Amino acid sequence: MFKILVAIAGLAVVSCSAPVDSGSDDGPSQPANWDAELRLPEAVDVNPTPHVFETTLTAKVVNLELVPGKITPVWTYNGLLPGPLIRVAPGDRLIVHLVNELPEPTTIHWHGIRLPNSMDGVPATTQAQVEPGGRFDYDFVLPDSGTFWYHPHVDSAAQAGFGLYGPLIVTDPNEPAGLGDELVLVLSDMMLMDDGSQAPPEGGGDLATLFGREGDTLLVNGKVNPTLHALAARRQRWRVINTAKSRYFQLMLEGQQFTRIGSDQGLIETPESSDRIILTPAQRADVVLDLALPSASSRPVRWVPYDRGFGSTEFRPEETVFTIQTSVDPAQASPPLPILHREIAPIDVSNATRQFIDLTQSAEGEPFSLGINGVPGDRAPALMAAVGDTQMWTVRNTIAFAHPFHLHGFFFQVMDVNGVPPTVREWRDTVNIPIDATVNLAVNFNERPGMWMFHCHILDHAEAGMMGMLHLHEH
Ligand code: C2O
Ligand code: CU
Repeated sequence: MFKILVAIAGLAVVSCSAPVDSGSDDGPSQPANWDAELRLPEAVDVNPTPHVFETTLTAKVVNLELVPGKITPVWTYNGLLPGPLIRVAPGDRLIVHLVNELPEPTTIHWHGIRLPNSMDGVPATTQAQVEPGGRFDYDFVLPDSGTFWYHPHVDSAAQAGFGLYGPLIVTDPNEPAGLGDELVLVLSDMMLMDDGSQAPPEGGGDLATLFGREGDTLLVNGKVNPTLHALAARRQRWRVINTAKSRYFQLMLEGQQFTRIGSDQGLIETPESSDRIILTPAQRADVVLDLALPSASSRPVRWVPYDRGFGSTEFRPEETVFTIQTSVDPAQASPPLPILHREIAPIDVSNATRQFIDLTQSAEGEPFSLGINGVPGDRAPALMAAVGDTQMWTVRNTIAFAHPFHLHGFFFQVMDVNGVPPTVREWRDTVNIPIDATVNLAVNFNERPGMWMFHCHILDHAEAGMMGMLHLHEH
């Protein structure tokens, strides 16, 4: 099959002449350099020991040309937007030397990783913030497969908004071949001024904080509307990460169905099909698609407004995130998708302790703040749990905007949203709490005592007080 495809590609009048081998057993698939505009530079492992990945992330401001002819100072890891892709296997040890060359203190939080509390990157709680010119060594083992990411936890709305985020992939050795050619998509946005500089993070005051600041420039892998050169009918596997500080992403591609196979922590119980991919800030989706475009055609992957409260959909046009261009090669379908099933045992909540978490806004007349149970995060008492406890958290939204609720260090199972159980079981660290909704989630605090944070991942909301702590103590 390889020979035939090479021959066809050789005859075709395209710049991409030789197909690349996807490494799986279903033969060559995409045109060479199909993802040249979207491929992410990978972090370099300087440690020769197998199963130890050691690298340096230097946080620094660099000038990038995101929009042609304009220079934007971007806060980056190693000068890259997004930061370098770290790819490891479960059980690997990751050592990251953070060097802070920013004008402000920072830390790195490893979003979704079940790591020791001291490695969680929360300033003043799990470590001292890393001052400008300072360093910190992160060193932990990655227990779970999945698509994860990293970002600062100091002044996070500003720092992540300015460009500090990067992808972290923990491969799954048990996954079957034939899931398609991988594309990692780091979605974000930025608010750019006319001169190309970034808007100040607190523009628009309390109202903008309440809405959550979205940028006016959509970015995928740090690019504005890049092109993917793909082969029609062939299978692709997208690992999508929403790293935006406030924007929800709802992606659609005309005529295309997506099969969601994974979410925050690896595969979901059974794949499910949809015409769209929806991600709150911080969520991940792993989807496969057999590209439903004719040969030699071009079609945009669109951001479609998602209703997360007043102003999120009204008069807002759809926007192009990236463009897929198919080559003139004749389409050749991929073999059928392998059967995927992951046994995920439901968490036994029969003896679960209840916690009630209302997402709240300060009362009228008081200075503007957001909070948990009426108290901004910095003044709220910690919730308690003992190692070994199973808890059921009832998260109730009392504000007219949706909130992506995130718990550090542990995965949970959503039991129901307004009484309706989810269609498929999956492990999540971030869940959407829709307007007027109550969500029950179950979590097993079976290990790793410490102070674990939870917060809204609209980072403007977190900074305004919608955060809290769980004190997980030994018995
Ligand atoms: Cu991505 Cu405190 O979180
Ligand atoms: Cu929120």
